[in-house]
Amino acid sequence: MTKEFPPLLIVDDERNMRLSLETVMADEGYEIVAAESAEEGLKLLKKQEVFVVVTDARLGGMSGYDFLREIKKSWPDLPVLMITAYATPKLAVDAIKSGAIDYLAKPFAPEELLHAVARCAERHQLLLENAALKEKSSESFGLDRIVGESEKVEELRELIRTVAPTDATVLILGESGTGKELIAGAIHALSKRREQNYVRINCAAIPEQLLESELFGHEKGAFTGAIRNKVGRVEEADGGTIFLDEIGDMSRPLQAKLLRFLEDGTFTRVGGNQEMKVDVRLIAATNRDIVSAIKSNAFREDLFHRLNVVQFMPPALRDRGDDVMILAKFFLDRFNRAMGKQIEGFDSETTRVLEAHHWPGNIRELRNAIERCVILESQSQIQISSLPDFRLEARLRKSDHSQISGDKSLEDEVADFERDCILNALAEHQYSLDQTAEGLRVSRHSLRYRMHRLNIKFEHGGDDDIVVPEE
Ligand SMILES: Nc1ncnc2c1ncn2[C@@H]1O[C@H](COP(=O)(O)OP(=O)(O)OP(=O)(O)O)[C@@H](O)[C@H]1O
Ligand SMILES: [Mg+2]
Repeated sequence: MTKEFPPLLIVDDERNMRLSLETVMADEGYEIVAAESAEEGLKLLKKQEVFVVVTDARLGGMSGYDFLREIKKSWPDLPVLMITAYATPKLAVDAIKSGAIDYLAKPFAPEELLHAVARCAERHQLLLENAALKEKSSESFGLDRIVGESEKVEELRELIRTVAPTDATVLILGESGTGKELIAGAIHALSKRREQNYVRINCAAIPEQLLESELFGHEKGAFTGAIRNKVGRVEEADGGTIFLDEIGDMSRPLQAKLLRFLEDGTFTRVGGNQEMKVDVRLIAATNRDIVSAIKSNAFREDLFHRLNVVQFMPPALRDRGDDVMILAKFFLDRFNRAMGKQIEGFDSETTRVLEAHHWPGNIRELRNAIERCVILESQSQIQISSLPDFRLEARLRKSDHSQISGDKSLEDEVADFERDCILNALAEHQYSLDQTAEGLRVSRHSLRYRMHRLNIKFEHGGDDDIVVPEE
């Protein structure tokens, strides 16, 4: 048992019984506190947390049943095991009715008691883990996770505080890595729906044909492979919030269905004919230029207006002034802790480079750069030699294309140029699709599409994100 795990309370007026219960439990590693009456037990409970109470039904003074009822009044979730003298159905029913989690009839084998106590211990452990998880998720989604002191970030926090408690639909537009997911999470965490589900779907990561059934579910037999009914994510999010990330990558037919869903919360499962309804708050985000997507007919204007009730535009890191160094220190602390290092800060040259960099990948790029620094750095301050080579990136942006031969069509020249850019970027990012997409500031979906169109053939590496081009 770990330190934080509370003890078990034994209440029995017979000293011998108390001692033998204590021995059995202590042998299993449980910490014990004991009382000889219900009155004494109640006093103890006020002073200290226990994970289960084991009590005899018959006690001098207040009876075990009254004790149980008193416990349920003040600590409704505390499990109580009742020990009764005889196994009569009536006593068992009495015990369970008064709120006991289980009862044991004398005489019982020690294993029976151990088994019942172990179940309560397990339950308590789960509750502890759940509480820790809840705390962690509200912490990692709360406003305090949005680091930065620039005026723009202050405004952003203020807007989150104002909009979160309403049910307004939210559209978050911003470059890659500017914290769109963080904002969406904070809005949910500060909303009335925070105890309900927060469901996130990345529209670019799910193949187009599957996205509709992922969102709205499907009926058995709706298409090949639909072997049973599937509940859609919007149903999962009922009462809570759904976050549609990379919504700019959603196909037009699905955009129409989403529009209808947004109008009144109704939808039908793929292959179903029954109209269903849920109560869901929607947050959407994209790093695509939504205006040009509307102009080129890739995105429905009516859907845009329906989504655009409240708009968030997290600023690019390069426009956040001093936040670059504030964030750099924040990530330095975090990675110091994670890696057990004690690097104190950045030397002046490194600070200058960090402040001057353009940060096309925004905060994600900064975080990755600092992580790398903390791994590589052997001195007490981060040196410029530990930074990634930002010059490579600058060179890539203006790579030399003066050698255009003139005997190819413009279209082919442009395609060649695009192919070079993508291959260079892939190499620079160790063939990670995510990082390359981020570096090129396109969505992962769009990168894959372009690679396909440009006939860049590749094999999958060790994981889904890594691709190795075939020469
Ligand atoms: N203000 C901030 N303070 C601390 N960390 C931040 C902040 N903004 C972003 N981050 C961190 O930067 C990383 C990228 O953020 P996030 O995933 O929210 O970006 P995004 O806008 O959704 O990017 P993309 O468009 O590529 O999906 C995450 O690790 C996030 O925790
Ligand atoms: Mg994102």
